[in-house]
Amino acid sequence: MKIRWGVIGAGGIARRRSIPEVVQHAEESTIVSVMDTDGKTAQEVAQSFAIPHFTTSVTELLATYCEAVYIASPVFAHYEQCRAALQAGKHVLVEKPMAMKVEEAEEIVALAEQRGLKLGVAFMMRYNVYHQAIKNMIERGSFGTLVSARAQLTCFYPPLPGAWRQKRELGGGGALADMGCHCIDLLEWFLGEVKEVVAFTHSLVHDYEVEDSATVLLRFQNGAHGIVEAFFNIPDEASRNVLEIYGTNGATLCRRTIGQDGGGEMEVFLREGERGYDAAQVRTVDGYQRVTLEPKPLYAQEFDAMSAWIQGGEKPLIHYGVGLRNLKVVEAAYLSAAQKRFVGVAG
Ligand SMILES: NC(=O)c1ccc[n+]([C@@H]2O[C@H](COP(=O)([O-])OP(=O)(O)OC[C@H]3O[C@@H](n4cnc5c(N)ncnc54)[C@H](O)[C@@H]3O)[C@@H](O)[C@H]2O)c1
Repeated sequence: MKIRWGVIGAGGIARRRSIPEVVQHAEESTIVSVMDTDGKTAQEVAQSFAIPHFTTSVTELLATYCEAVYIASPVFAHYEQCRAALQAGKHVLVEKPMAMKVEEAEEIVALAEQRGLKLGVAFMMRYNVYHQAIKNMIERGSFGTLVSARAQLTCFYPPLPGAWRQKRELGGGGALADMGCHCIDLLEWFLGEVKEVVAFTHSLVHDYEVEDSATVLLRFQNGAHGIVEAFFNIPDEASRNVLEIYGTNGATLCRRTIGQDGGGEMEVFLREGERGYDAAQVRTVDGYQRVTLEPKPLYAQEFDAMSAWIQGGEKPLIHYGVGLRNLKVVEAAYLSAAQKRFVGVAG
């Protein structure tokens, strides 16, 4: 049976990606109600996707017969809405970052555990087919000892009057909190926990209070080094969203796999004797092989993974521990930038 989902904050990413993908592709999830503070948005989204109920009230949404709630409102609202949903006995998938501060996220996690409810954080890029292939290759040891990694997510985001993302007290930060968090999440998934960070955050171009430029150096528990780059001031057309991972026996170079589409381009280099990748391959001039895989919808997969967990299946890749960890690394990076020093990340 499909898990019945309510959506809080229906007009942004929910309308563009999550709801359409769930409606078209999800096998274990269905959306029964949408809520938005903007009544017109709630009504339009419900009508466009044939969702039976819409409202402007969180209380009314939580009173409907939904078992789980997807929270895609602006970041400042996540903490209260997660608490309200969990207190109403609903399982929760909350958009990244899960809260404004680590302490808030810890409270939400504790509440979910107390109530025996499932809680996930929407790091849907873990479901990209290329990222899953990288994870498999790392687990098989194909790259040898991992020593270096880099993840980039950039776009052009000009000043917009009233935009919550451009105010620290509403979004929790700028390019780093909003986009760098995905890069940090992927690198922690591939290389393990980050031990310490050092970061630059600056406003180089745009005249809003949060940073439009962030570069973070990471040192992982296993000693490997990493770089995360998040910028709000590079034209979308110029953004390559590069992902690179290097080990003693091999490496991968991806472009545009970090993003919302679920596809991208991937090349893999493996030293002689390492098991190659099984999918379609074309050898490039420098010894890298191009790997081509069929993209799958990211948002439908994250909903279905949560729905399966709710129905007794295994813990998904995007469980709450991942969201809490992420916020700890992001917070450490902001502290590093503010105090101009290396900052350790608590376990
Ligand atoms: N995983 C991803 O691919 C991805 C992409 C974009 C955004 N996000 C995350 O999704 C969340 C929303 O971002 P967005 O870009 O969709 O924002 P947005 O501003 O485009 O849309 C937010 C929607 O929430 C509504 N809203 C505002 N305040 C609300 C409240 N208190 N309660 C309920 N609804 C409210 C707005 O009317 C709007 O329809 C953020 O956490 C963001 O980081 C994730």
